[in-house]
Amino acid sequence: MAESKDPAPEKVRVGLEARSYDIQIGQGLLSNIPALFPHVSKTTLLFIVCDEHLKTQASLISKVFHNLGINVAEVVLPSGENQKCLDSASKLFDQLVNARADRKTMVLALGGGVVGDLAGFVAATYNRGLNLFMVPTTLLSMVDSSVGGKVGINHPMGKNLIGAFHQPVGVAIDINVLNSLPDREFRSGLAEVVKYGMILDAGLFGFLEANAAGILAREPGLLVKIIKRSCELKAQVVSQDEREETGLRAILNFGHTFAHAFETIGGYGAWLHGEAVAAGMVCANKLSLNRGMIDESIAARVVALLKAFNLPTDPPKLSSTSLLEVMRNDKKSVRGNLRFILAKKLGEVALFDDVTEENVKGVLSPLN
Ligand code: GLY
Repeated sequence: MAESKDPAPEKVRVGLEARSYDIQIGQGLLSNIPALFPHVSKTTLLFIVCDEHLKTQASLISKVFHNLGINVAEVVLPSGENQKCLDSASKLFDQLVNARADRKTMVLALGGGVVGDLAGFVAATYNRGLNLFMVPTTLLSMVDSSVGGKVGINHPMGKNLIGAFHQPVGVAIDINVLNSLPDREFRSGLAEVVKYGMILDAGLFGFLEANAAGILAREPGLLVKIIKRSCELKAQVVSQDEREETGLRAILNFGHTFAHAFETIGGYGAWLHGEAVAAGMVCANKLSLNRGMIDESIAARVVALLKAFNLPTDPPKLSSTSLLEVMRNDKKSVRGNLRFILAKKLGEVALFDDVTEENVKGVLSPLN
């Protein structure tokens, strides 16, 4: 069936009792931005945080709200994963103080995962919590980091080691912003979409296989479909295990124990997050394969789909000793014991705590 050129807007509810919120998904949503923010009134200070690539968009939003009589402050950050640090958070705290932020302040995070995580962390902690509205502008942040309330910054010894759970009051996803997203970043986001298929939805996985060319061509109808399905799956998980207490939410970290180690040792930014997740998922599947939990054909389908999206499927050549040291610090590990999410079949994974360091070394391409 041909995809509609002008897909209808969609809404996904993240059900969390008093902290429930909607994810609005559509084409051109940002052209009527006030309609997205029923939460803003004349007593609100709207504190917009964006990176330098979104400066023009942030100014336009500022102007619209300013004309409505709303007090707006705008902070433009340099781009890059290295901004997700205590120093940047501290600068944002200073700006909030200067702007006389109070409990009615709404932080609007306009950008990718770095801006969302950093601005979200600042919103979670300033004045014991400010309202947060997410406008993700990369595919990766649309399907993952803007949804579910995980916010945080990096520590030199681990990604997202300093953070909080702080749910946004809303998320608005305008697929038009993906038109200008660099190809590498777009493909990086697709790794997280593949992850949802792998962990929860074999149907989604098959849909990605069948529509890989159209997805890479960024057909709007396909984009809305895969973003909506990814958000639905994430919302289902988050509403059942918001604070990662039962082990359910941990499945969203499939491939991420490897990925975080690749990013930490390789240097934040050397690989995009989704690229590290792609190679990490392949490593996790090799662990499952070596334990006889999945057969070769599943591992091969995952590699083929990632290759179709031009994503890495081999681990980087880094010291296994260093990678393992980072993995022991992973938030899923318990007193230094490694825990991994492993595939049982396409669309089903579980948490395992009996993977040995030897098993892990066996699926890496170490330098030593
Ligand atoms: N990105 C994993 C989670 O939100 O739990």
